[in-house]
Amino acid sequence: MSVIVYIPREATALSLGAHAVARAVTEEVSRRQESVQIVRTGSRGLFWLEPLIEVQTSEGRMAYGPVQAADVPGLFAAGFLGAGQHRLRLGLAESIPYLKNQERLTCGRLGVIDPLSLDDYRAHGGYHGLKAALPMEPAAIVRAVTDSGLRGRGGAEFPTGIKWKTVHDAPGTQKYIVCNADEGDSGTFSDRLLMEGDPFCLIEGMTIAGLAVGATRGYIYLRCEYPHAHDTMTQAIATAYAQGYLGTDLLGSGRAFGLELRLGAGAYICGEETSLLESLEGRRGQIRFKPPLPALKGLFGCPTVVNNVISFASVPIILQRGAQYYRDYGMGRSRGTLPIQLAGNIARGGLVERAFGVTLRELLYDYGGGTRSGRPIRAVQVGGPLGAYWPQSKFDTPLDYEAFAQAGGMLGHGGIVVFDDTVDMAAQARYAMEFCAIESCGKCTPCRIGSTRGVEIIDRLIAGDRAAMQQALLRDLCDTMFNGSLCALGGLTPYPVLSALDYFSEDFSKPAVLQAAMR
Ligand SMILES: Cc1cc2nc3c(=O)[nH]c(=O)nc-3n(C[C@H](O)[C@H](O)[C@H](O)COP(=O)(O)O)c2cc1C
Ligand code: SF4
Repeated sequence: MSVIVYIPREATALSLGAHAVARAVTEEVSRRQESVQIVRTGSRGLFWLEPLIEVQTSEGRMAYGPVQAADVPGLFAAGFLGAGQHRLRLGLAESIPYLKNQERLTCGRLGVIDPLSLDDYRAHGGYHGLKAALPMEPAAIVRAVTDSGLRGRGGAEFPTGIKWKTVHDAPGTQKYIVCNADEGDSGTFSDRLLMEGDPFCLIEGMTIAGLAVGATRGYIYLRCEYPHAHDTMTQAIATAYAQGYLGTDLLGSGRAFGLELRLGAGAYICGEETSLLESLEGRRGQIRFKPPLPALKGLFGCPTVVNNVISFASVPIILQRGAQYYRDYGMGRSRGTLPIQLAGNIARGGLVERAFGVTLRELLYDYGGGTRSGRPIRAVQVGGPLGAYWPQSKFDTPLDYEAFAQAGGMLGHGGIVVFDDTVDMAAQARYAMEFCAIESCGKCTPCRIGSTRGVEIIDRLIAGDRAAMQQALLRDLCDTMFNGSLCALGGLTPYPVLSALDYFSEDFSKPAVLQAAMR
């Protein structure tokens, strides 16, 4: 019988040499005339160990990492196919503390299955959710999602079941399901990992959504910077059609759902749902006025569900295990689990799926292991480029939508970017304002003009040019942007800018000689 060796084909692992490792394993296998089956998987999301390769044993999968092609002959010499001892041996994959201490409800198959194998997906619990949903009344599916407490994982935190009910109740013969796979937030990659590692889960979640609201067509709007996700999703959609999991007769039920994938050109604003719909319809990505809500008048003017990748991917397990099972995880009004992404200057960057309630400190130190540079953590930014910069004093905040809002931040898509004590927070504030100026869609004045004026004010502030006046002006401008912007890009840019000013004010008043040296 062949020994099974698992090697990731996910973008992070590839960038670190996974293809070369796979080639080296193939060569070594043929040189030694061993009987080996290589399975290419997604990533489990333990990035500092990538390429992380695994060998099937009777006790489970033995993990080795990070492996380079040059390590492969030594691994074979050490009896790697029989889980032999080697300096890169990490123990059973499931026992690595980073992974063992997670609650993987949505991301449980990442790095485990062959993402392109429908058989593997089904063997690991796939399509049980759809099978449960098919005989249900649409309203009962909507109720299950509502009862689970699932809230949108893309950033706006809106209850998914309520959105689905609005579309379900809306009149109209044509309705749409749109998946937001634009994943523009800094430090985020859970959508990509899911699409590269478990594409059928997203397809299943969107299909269930279609059944729930009466939509027979869906679109995935994917950012063009994700070529591997594009490739994997494209192949998975074709397989699902070929095997009756998409099309006009879902599993012989007579129900229909079809899916297409569209590429966005890479503008941050196209992640906002109304811009996304503009772009999907073939126009420049620009914000639409709300109301009407996309749920009532969305794609091509029809009632449309727009949800994030992780929101859809969380649905199959809710239908499979029941709303209460999912709801039992979490705290307060934040139910279930959140795939959190640790990025920036962090020793153990990657994906941590935990129930809401885990603190930032646990994530940064117990999972993340502090900074990669070994220096103290000075600041973190949670929730993408519009999230606040937080100092150490906020690290005991539990991951909970309400707790974060109360503390002046937001959880957003669950991305955490870490900075050590060499960070210049005035430069970060300037960067946040400049980001807004560059990415502004231009539809409203507070954002289009305000962000450019904001960069100029921060420049004068950093230069020490009438600092008190510039500070007052900056706060006034941020107030206008917060209250007067049409969407959250202009509306939330004050969060990173003012949090940097409030918590790290010393960085805005460096002596001129030091500033010159830093430039
Ligand atoms: C500037 C801006 C960028 C956004 N980018 C994304 C994105 O990349 N992915 C995403 O899912 N949601 C993004 N959103 C949120 C979407 O507008 C929308 O709330 C979300 O797709 C709804 O799905 P959910 O309820 O499942 O989160 C963005 C919002 C704003 C204002
Ligand atoms: S806030 Fe900025 S991105 Fe949003 S509508 Fe106004 S100009 Fe466009």
